[in-house]
Amino acid sequence: MAPAASFAGIPLSLISLVTLTVQNSALTVVLHYSRISVPADRMYSAASAVLLNELLKGAISLSIAFRNSVVATARPGDYARIPSTDDDERKRALQGTAWSPETIRAGGAKMLREVFSRDCWKLSIPACLYVIQNNLQFVAASNLDVPTFQVTYNLKILTTALFSVFLLGRRLSAQKWAALLFLAAGVGVVQLQSTTSNSSHDSHDMDKAKGLFAVFCACMTSGLAGVYFEMVLKGSKADLWIRNVQLSFFSLLPALMAVFAPGVSLVGGPAKPNPTAGQPIFANFGGWAWAVVFGGLVTALVIRYSDNIMKGFATSLAIVLSFCAGIILFDFNVTLSFLVGSAMVVASTYLYNLPDAGRRALTNSSPLP
Ligand code: C5P
Repeated sequence: MAPAASFAGIPLSLISLVTLTVQNSALTVVLHYSRISVPADRMYSAASAVLLNELLKGAISLSIAFRNSVVATARPGDYARIPSTDDDERKRALQGTAWSPETIRAGGAKMLREVFSRDCWKLSIPACLYVIQNNLQFVAASNLDVPTFQVTYNLKILTTALFSVFLLGRRLSAQKWAALLFLAAGVGVVQLQSTTSNSSHDSHDMDKAKGLFAVFCACMTSGLAGVYFEMVLKGSKADLWIRNVQLSFFSLLPALMAVFAPGVSLVGGPAKPNPTAGQPIFANFGGWAWAVVFGGLVTALVIRYSDNIMKGFATSLAIVLSFCAGIILFDFNVTLSFLVGSAMVVASTYLYNLPDAGRRALTNSSPLP
């Protein structure tokens, strides 16, 4: 069996789990703090942060796709010259020698042909959905306290499962359906505290109904975009990074439209004109806004190196971290229903990601002597 991939002796799967967990909860805290700590007239534009995030993601994906294309177009002669019989070693060595003007030109042309292939338009659907989701995240984080946002956002697992049943025809075991029902019930129980207690010192700024509506819509767009992206990947041989370049390319138009839309304020309270409308698009872009953009970038990159099961475990662990952060940083008022509801959500996420009972028995059984 091949040894598990590692970095400095630490398994990559563990690095990925820790990074995803810390990043998940840190991003929620930073998002929330960056929206509630600044007066409206000094607020940065959320839509500009989403646009910047897409531009940076696009630049990173483009560089990786370009490098892969150049290496793939290296001449067969170069390959044969490497004094090794190990195929992987030759490929690695080739990465250093592939950069001749010819291969750069050929690789660039190959990449552009693949990016603008006939089926590239398919990525426009998940691209628009992700832009909507990323903008909605700001509405939710501006109007909900950190732990409530984190727990409710876990409904993504339910919407992703439902869309994969309806669109991909995936069949779920009884154990997974039970976990999903338990998850929905847990989120419901958490909402009891949201409506009956005045849980946060900054709640006068927040509109919980608006925040909950935003988080529910973000869960729908996240589930649909994820399943649609999976459908596109399944039906094609294109490199994942080419698909990511297409995703970022098609995000630009909706992200720009959000920047220039007149809109209303995303923070809570009665609807009022958007205080960032008419400002230069990157006005008030201070450290917190950059932290939000950087956090979104880390999410997107780590997501590309981790599987769904890892994501599931990380989000349930992130609930616990965000819960502690909510108490320590924002005076979050813990109620019994919040504790019970979030324990249900953490347990159901864990249950959902366990291998099914039948498969577990199969993988645990040792081979016959
Ligand atoms: O699926 P989930 O809701 O967890 O996605 C979180 C974020 O990952 C979204 O903000 C989306 O923009 C980003 N993403 C990405 N590239 C992908 C898939 C998701 O940048 N291929």
